[in-house]
Amino acid sequence: MKIGLGITGCIAAYKSVELIRLFQKRGDEVFPIITQNGLNFITELTLSSISGNKTTTEMFSGVENWDVKHISLARKIDVLLVAPATANIIAKFANGIADDFLSTLYLSFEGKVVIAPAMNKSMWSHPATKRNVEILKERGNIIVNPESGYLACKEEGEGRLADLEKILNYTYHALREKDFKGKRAIITAGATREFIDPIRFITNRSSGKMGISLAREFWLRGGEVILIKGKNTPDVKFDIEVIECESAEDMFKKTVENFSRCDICIMAAAVSDYTPLRRESEKIKKNSETLNLKLKRTTDILKELSKIKKKNQILIGFAAETENLKTNAQKKLKSKNLDFIVLNDVKRKDIGFESDENEISILFKDGREKFFKKSKKEIIAKYIVDEIKNIGEK
Ligand code: CTP
Repeated sequence: MKIGLGITGCIAAYKSVELIRLFQKRGDEVFPIITQNGLNFITELTLSSISGNKTTTEMFSGVENWDVKHISLARKIDVLLVAPATANIIAKFANGIADDFLSTLYLSFEGKVVIAPAMNKSMWSHPATKRNVEILKERGNIIVNPESGYLACKEEGEGRLADLEKILNYTYHALREKDFKGKRAIITAGATREFIDPIRFITNRSSGKMGISLAREFWLRGGEVILIKGKNTPDVKFDIEVIECESAEDMFKKTVENFSRCDICIMAAAVSDYTPLRRESEKIKKNSETLNLKLKRTTDILKELSKIKKKNQILIGFAAETENLKTNAQKKLKSKNLDFIVLNDVKRKDIGFESDENEISILFKDGREKFFKKSKKEIIAKYIVDEIKNIGEK
């Protein structure tokens, strides 16, 4: 993807360096455009060195290859992202003022525009800014709202540039095809916790990254997502419904409660198979040399869902295996009555639990099998969601 990144005069301008890096890590190319006010906060040289592209600073900085530059850049980029965007540039965009390169580019660009404002809280809540933001939204521009927190002016309030991962996600969201529009998915992620006493619990190594990557992929493609996630999982940097849960029983209840309003359910969570027979109300004291814990089986959520399934919901499971990978996964595929199961080897340190990467095989109920080589979990999530689309289309 080719991104035109507009940077305006705000202290958060320094964050654009990190933003460029985040895009580059995913293989995107960034073309920086900075306003004269922006140059008070970060240099042209920094932006050009990091991006590997010449930074545009002025409207009339010479004609390159006899192109009119704002027109040629407008034709080159896939999306225009402005981060940070000041109240001033928002006002100019809203009113069609074109008195510098960035505002002129805005008028000549016909693609998607994403705007991440950052300013003092009073400026952000001023009726003039509010009205201008509304105009941009009505026009179809995507606004990544600023966050609350400590501002450069030493005040607390709403006005801080949104999280950079969130800005990145919204930029992708602007461009992706919405092939899951009208579909709703439940996705579970992370590990459950089975409490022994008020402060100790049994859990496992699942980080929740695979489930969250799947939720992101659905959201990028226009799907609605209910993410039911364990407490240890990372924050979600996009807008979906998030329900936190603790024990296997808790996850079971929350999944069943939401199941009937969903078309797809992906159980990516590593659910505890056993829970203590009794949970002590006080901290267990070390009064003896050994301690026996008695455990009982938890409910198999996927199995229950396959029994209560009323409409033609797609059910997908994960098989976390350390031995006899395929045989075990095949058994789970059948016993849980799934459309497909995603098999990963959780013994390997470089993929699966806690890692940012995964390598999977998908085993389908019709006997087909597909292997996907080691890739970032975000890429693996895309492959899995593509397979769900294929099933839905059959
Ligand atoms: N699962 C579930 N409810 C449970 C346990 C697991 O819904 N109580 C789901 C998992 O989310 C996963 C699939 O079942 O999608 C397979 O989980 P896994 O831990 O690999 O297998 P188990 O069914 O627990 O069997 P085993 O522990 O014997 O491997």
